[in-house]
Amino acid sequence: MREREALQAAIDECYDAGLLGKNSKLGYDMDVYVHHGAGAYICGEETALLESLEGKKGQPRLKPPFPANMGLYGAPTTVNNVESIAVAPTILRRGGAWFAGIGRPNNTGTKLFCVSGHVNTPCTVEEAMSIPFRELIERHCGGIRGGWDNLLAVIPGGSSVPMVPAADIIDTPMDFDSLRDLKSGLGTAAVIVMDKSTDVVKAIWRLSAFYKHESCGQCTPCREGTGWMMRVMDRMVKGNAQKREIDMLFDVTKQIEGHTICALGDAAAWPIQGLIRHFRPVMEARIDQYTRNAVQSRNERLEAAE
Ligand SMILES: Cc1cc2nc3c(=O)[nH]c(=O)nc-3n(C[C@H](O)[C@H](O)[C@H](O)COP(=O)(O)O)c2cc1C
Ligand code: SF4
Repeated sequence: MREREALQAAIDECYDAGLLGKNSKLGYDMDVYVHHGAGAYICGEETALLESLEGKKGQPRLKPPFPANMGLYGAPTTVNNVESIAVAPTILRRGGAWFAGIGRPNNTGTKLFCVSGHVNTPCTVEEAMSIPFRELIERHCGGIRGGWDNLLAVIPGGSSVPMVPAADIIDTPMDFDSLRDLKSGLGTAAVIVMDKSTDVVKAIWRLSAFYKHESCGQCTPCREGTGWMMRVMDRMVKGNAQKREIDMLFDVTKQIEGHTICALGDAAAWPIQGLIRHFRPVMEARIDQYTRNAVQSRNERLEAAE
């Protein structure tokens, strides 16, 4: 809300200064309009955003055609993240070589890291691509809550990418290639830090619930799969499941991944894959505990009945 007001105020200033509108000082006519959504996550997907802008239900379009060829009202359209647009003027001023000189080969430039979770001072910071995870956290976030030995795992690229256990990420450069090698991804660089107090199964269940809620419902694997995964994750949180269901859950994530119109299906599948890959023993221990408790309470009931 505040962001929208600030943006509108800046646009108004440009009109007042004659930089926008008819016969602008730029030498051509140009208008800028601000539209805002109503909070649907799926309307961030570029073609759902266009549908929504056209006044329709925010559902992703099949691609191709891509927006660059056929976008808003069928016209060629560019859709970009604010971060990309914000960095463009500096790249134009300083040159592409300058930007490409930051980071390491194939992973260049700067990145906005949005660090949340169990760090002492969560923040959003623009840093050089490939900064090692430890350095990012020490320099900008006041370290891990309770110290580095208290780090459990990190979701390095926003809620859709698989988590990485502490030992694997601490000295990893935060970039596309390094995180891909860890079977995760840089994604949006929204870094979610989890210390040892975290119930990782419940944390991933929460993401499953989110994606189930946000699925637009167009594709069967996503519409049905997100709900199915959330219900199984519900039981995994309690331990009320069979161990073989862990493999079944993994199989289902693989059937959703890559089989949907937009990447929300992948986004729902990947966090669960990361959980199973790295924390299967935690899931199994919970099932064992639940089973032990169930047997014990049944025995107690039987004894009381005798
Ligand atoms: C489910 C889903 C949600 C998305 N939400 C956003 C979003 O909130 N903001 C955003 O910039 N891109 C979002 N994207 C990515 C956009 O489709 C698009 O790739 C991006 O805006 C392109 O801008 P960039 O090249 O500047 O990053 C989303 C994609 C998917 C699949
Ligand atoms: S993957 Fe999910 S959110 Fe994306 S179009 Fe299909 S149903 Fe909608």
